[in-house]
Amino acid sequence: MTGGIETAAAAERDRVQGVGQKGDQQKFFSCRDLHAYYGESYIVQGVSFDVHEGEIVALLGRNGAGKTSTLRTIARAPSPELRRGEIWLDGTALHPMVSHQAARSGISLVPEDRRIIGGLTVEENLQLAQIAEPRGWELERIYEHFPRLAERRKQEAVTMSGGEQQMLAVARALARDIKLLLLDEPYEGLAPIIVQEIERILEQVKALGITTVIVEQNAIAALHLSDRAIILDMGQVVFEGQANEVLENADIRQEYLAV
Ligand SMILES: Nc1ncnc2c1ncn2[C@@H]1O[C@H](COP(=O)(O)OP(=O)(O)OP(=O)(O)O)[C@@H](O)[C@H]1O
Ligand SMILES: [Mg+2]
Repeated sequence: MTGGIETAAAAERDRVQGVGQKGDQQKFFSCRDLHAYYGESYIVQGVSFDVHEGEIVALLGRNGAGKTSTLRTIARAPSPELRRGEIWLDGTALHPMVSHQAARSGISLVPEDRRIIGGLTVEENLQLAQIAEPRGWELERIYEHFPRLAERRKQEAVTMSGGEQQMLAVARALARDIKLLLLDEPYEGLAPIIVQEIERILEQVKALGITTVIVEQNAIAALHLSDRAIILDMGQVVFEGQANEVLENADIRQEYLAV
């Protein structure tokens, strides 16, 4: 009898502490001790963090801190090369995968350049996202949430404004059945008024419970949207805490964010 209780107690302790592979599998998203390289350049140097289901996490840090590289590693982009570490999403191991497999498992990376496809209309860009299974939102639902895209559905997408293209990039991610949305600098290059508009869209994304990691130079805006913050410096996690802690702590902001 005691054996059973001890085993159960050990399992509970492991669960609480998140020990071992099983613990990582039970978390919604977890990356553990990621080490990634561009050729011989060692860039991502032992990054670990978790994201809970429905949470928005801001991944911050100065220029060159390794934010984009970390997102690309998680999305299993061809570079940087992951040489050590584990990535788990909803019980699935992503570390052995390549990018299209990770995408099928529910990772969606919206890169800084947004990758809107030239020569295609807004609607065709969205339809293209739905060619491969698993599909997410139907076009109708997307247009309900993004009325601006509905108005412009027949327009060639690359002729839209930067803010509208960012909306399309987010909408295109939602057109697929995603579990984790990775946004790299969604406010980059946008006028403050447009930033506000994208912020409202991301508030909606949050209200819908879509688990998100947001990388942003505009740290304050990202923190207002986020539940938690992770700060990278020289390819390592140097701070992890509530978004409010960073908003309220000028020392942390000055040391790692220069804001
Ligand atoms: N393709 C590449 N080949 C070699 N080194 C690279 C490559 N891409 C990025 N790096 C280097 O990796 C480091 C981290 O870059 P990364 O783009 O991940 O930083 P970041 O935090 O996203 O910066 P930023 O805020 O400027 O976007 C930098 O020193 C950068 O020069
Ligand atoms: Mg970057």
